[in-house]
Amino acid sequence: MTEINIIKASLGEVAGYLKEYGSIFIVFDENVADLVGKLGVDAKGTLGIEVSEDGKNIQTVMEIDQWLMELGANRDAFLLGIGGGITTDIVGFAASIYKRGIRFGFIPTTLLSQVDAAIGGKNGVNLDSYKNMIGIIRQPEMTFICPEALDSLPYEQILSGAAELLKTFIISNQDDNYERTVKALEAKDIDALKELSGAAAAVKAGVAGRDPDERGERRLLNLGHTFAHSIEKNSEESIGHGQAVSMGMILAARLSEAAGVAEKGLAAKLEADFRKCGMPTECPYTIEELADAMKKDKKAEGSIVHFVLPVRIGEVITRDLTVEEAVDLLK
Ligand SMILES: NC(=O)c1ccc[n+]([C@@H]2O[C@H](COP(=O)([O-])OP(=O)(O)OC[C@H]3O[C@@H](n4cnc5c(N)ncnc54)[C@H](O)[C@@H]3O)[C@@H](O)[C@H]2O)c1
Repeated sequence: MTEINIIKASLGEVAGYLKEYGSIFIVFDENVADLVGKLGVDAKGTLGIEVSEDGKNIQTVMEIDQWLMELGANRDAFLLGIGGGITTDIVGFAASIYKRGIRFGFIPTTLLSQVDAAIGGKNGVNLDSYKNMIGIIRQPEMTFICPEALDSLPYEQILSGAAELLKTFIISNQDDNYERTVKALEAKDIDALKELSGAAAAVKAGVAGRDPDERGERRLLNLGHTFAHSIEKNSEESIGHGQAVSMGMILAARLSEAAGVAEKGLAAKLEADFRKCGMPTECPYTIEELADAMKKDKKAEGSIVHFVLPVRIGEVITRDLTVEEAVDLLK
């Protein structure tokens, strides 16, 4: 069991939690530069980075480490990363290799990073066009879930984290929070979503803490992801991850019904709910078109894929199937 420290706090409260850390350095996404001043943290240095998937690479990681070195950061330094998943992935990696690893923490500023990317210790960057190909698993000292961090986030970015938010409740016996999330997204109720984000962050921390190396329970977080990765590949990344996960969860529910795991009607319910939320539901590819990329999925073991199948909202199981078996069931 790994302790994963999630702290729900306002931006103004963060400094209080960091007073034990002597020398603090901050790396932030330039798009959230306004938040840095609201922290009141007495930092030895602050560095803004321009965020993009292209720039999420080892070069940026090395630039951060170079900057730390030039400012004389020691082994006792603490690096705080503020931004979405790109920033937290880069900062976690940079901190993990600087002087063989210094302590670090995050203030995630997108819904996706609050419920997923900034929790669980996976810190990786892209290598050429291969996503998250190099990295390290190392836990941040803490992840602050600050509701106000989402105030400036465009709604389209809220929607991009919506599928992971709903997924977290589907896998964790939280059907009530699932229904609340559907209502909140339908009404674009940001205050309710901020509350639900904190609840989902706690769920992810629990799952990742009990299974940090992804040998059992953590696999459940992959609900919809085998399909989603294949959809992203087929679309040459023009369909974003959040949209692909939305379509992927519906396909997983259809597979589950066909395999006799879920009751009939679950896929139709997810589809209706996701549509109300403004999320895409129709996968533009046939199952045969998805099959090829599914075989190459990094989480497949040989020809076997550990599919995560919903039994109902709140409960999922894993079922090992070959891609061919899944294709047959979905035809
Ligand atoms: N480590 C993990 O376990 C894990 C899990 C899921 C995703 N990820 C990674 O996360 C990344 C995606 O994360 P993301 O969706 O947060 O993307 P992101 O970091 O690119 O943020 C999305 C956009 O929103 C902007 N932004 C961020 N916070 C803002 C705010 N409060 N107000 C206004 N604009 C803001 C950013 O500048 C960016 O333009 C991917 O690279 C993915 O690989 C990692």
